[in-house]
Amino acid sequence: MKLFVEKDYEKLSKVAANIVKEEMSKKPNMVLGLATGSTPEGMYRELIRMHKEDGLDFSNVITFNLDEYVGIDVEHPNSYHYFMKNILFNHINIDLKNTYIPDGKANDLEKYCEEYDELIQEKGGIDLQILGIGENGHIAFNEPDDTLNVGTSVVDLTQSTIEANSRFFDSIDEVPKTAITMGIGTIMKAKKIILLANGKKKAKVIKELLREDKITTQLPASMLLLHPDVTVIIDEEAYQG
Ligand code: F6R
Repeated sequence: MKLFVEKDYEKLSKVAANIVKEEMSKKPNMVLGLATGSTPEGMYRELIRMHKEDGLDFSNVITFNLDEYVGIDVEHPNSYHYFMKNILFNHINIDLKNTYIPDGKANDLEKYCEEYDELIQEKGGIDLQILGIGENGHIAFNEPDDTLNVGTSVVDLTQSTIEANSRFFDSIDEVPKTAITMGIGTIMKAKKIILLANGKKKAKVIKELLREDKITTQLPASMLLLHPDVTVIIDEEAYQG
């Protein structure tokens, strides 16, 4: 696991965007795994800038998002579909047909999850996966538990995640209680992974992740210690030394 500690969020976002750009230059039709949430927003802003000012070309890029709430309509302002269009897709030259986000309203969710994993493999597997991390150590919506799912699945969100995500909703009661998420195995199959974290709120979990040379399902991000190509990029606030 490589660690980059950057001065601030802006620098972290630029470093992350540069890695995406580098991978895109090696493989213009790369399969890019995307995350939602606040953490990657600065990186997305920088990628948009690179597209607008430097002509970074997304026309052949394929994307797969990590997760989506169950039962939420794609047009709902709190859906991850809406988020991705708003924050990235509408501002770059990506073909929306090449963007995949789990469908929280699929009829047969179990079958849908299996097909999502199959589709990722059909497209050649994820070349670069972007991850954030929850304050409780979750990656995607793989929450701390006695066991973790290997493949994409429907999961219950923990109270701490519901509380953390309530900041995007009018009230905590509106936050969906279940989500579709790529499984730990799906994420681990990505050829390269970058995990981003910024701010004091993430310092405790980052310390656990970096200090503990141990894997536990109670800290799902610790599974990444087994991956051969993970880069953790954090700002000084998220780093306690
Ligand atoms: C989002 C996701 C989550 C977030 C995590 C951190 O697609 O998979 O695991 O990365 O909850 O969220 P933020 O970035 O809002 O602190």
